[in-house]
Amino acid sequence: MKITQYVPKESLLTGPAGARVLVVDDEEFLRFLVREWLEQAGYTVEEAADGREALGKLDGRGHDFDILLTDIRMPIMDGIALLREWLQRSPNTAGVVMSANAELDIAVSALKLGACDYITKPFGNDVLLITLENALRKKELERQVEDYRLNLEKKVKEQTDVINLMYVRSIDAMVKALEAKDDYTRGHAQRVTIYSVAIAREMGLPEREVEDIRRASVLHDLGKIGVREAVLNKPAALTDDEFREFARHPGISVNILEPVPFFRPILPAILHHHERYDGRGYPGGLAGDEIPLASRIMAVADTFDAMTTTRAYRKALPAEDAVAELRACAGTQFDPGIVSVFLSCREKIRIPAECGIS
Ligand SMILES: [Fe+2]
Repeated sequence: MKITQYVPKESLLTGPAGARVLVVDDEEFLRFLVREWLEQAGYTVEEAADGREALGKLDGRGHDFDILLTDIRMPIMDGIALLREWLQRSPNTAGVVMSANAELDIAVSALKLGACDYITKPFGNDVLLITLENALRKKELERQVEDYRLNLEKKVKEQTDVINLMYVRSIDAMVKALEAKDDYTRGHAQRVTIYSVAIAREMGLPEREVEDIRRASVLHDLGKIGVREAVLNKPAALTDDEFREFARHPGISVNILEPVPFFRPILPAILHHHERYDGRGYPGGLAGDEIPLASRIMAVADTFDAMTTTRAYRKALPAEDAVAELRACAGTQFDPGIVSVFLSCREKIRIPAECGIS
């Protein structure tokens, strides 16, 4: 088999226009020689006699060197310490170490620190130029791979946002379909949201938690879409079987929302919005602080709105009667702390006309 010897092209022996090299070596003659070779090849060259002097040439304004060509054994600060410090402060520089044969293990340490290559002393002009060209190419490739990775992450995020938006829109359509199916819930989700957010703000919860409560409240009854209209709109008490069917709606809400990561943080709040403080609610029979705080808030808001609006099975109660009922059930059905927060801010809450009391 014919093996073609690798012959560097002309361009490899010509430094990229404007590429800046910092040559660090305590031997003045070597610096002089390297500078001569590199400047002839088109590089811009500066020199330093040790690591500390080299670091003093980092300007920190993004105009740093393209290549750091450094000896290993030097007084004051050696090449390894210099590389470690330099590559932390200027990671885009291609580091190349110059080592004697006996220092190969140290050269390997330099590669582990992030140096692109090493060159063994003594070396000639052509080997030096090829090594620097390769180091620059390697750094450029690393930059392109990083750009590609960042671009890919950006594209994936954009696509995920589009998918999430489509899902949110389809869920919005489901909420509207539910409102069409169950006349009495029209505006209910919006009012429960207004009450719940008001309670959360009155309690001084962080804005992120308030936002989660807002989303959970809007969607809490979405699962009613899986309950028969005859059950939802029955103008009388439900039979045991009908109640079991009705009680599935928090779980159905969770099943609908679960595929979208965006909704996952609010699923426990939705699942447990029919728990009771005394542990006699559903679906988990959780009690007291076992019930997510958002669910305890939504339970008060949900029940107050249900009592003050007309339903298939009864007329709306006056607000004063609903308040009395909340007080009576504080500590059994409801978290008493949340009832008192709601009652302290209830009169300040304004319900807009478009989701007004039906
Ligand atoms: Fe519900």
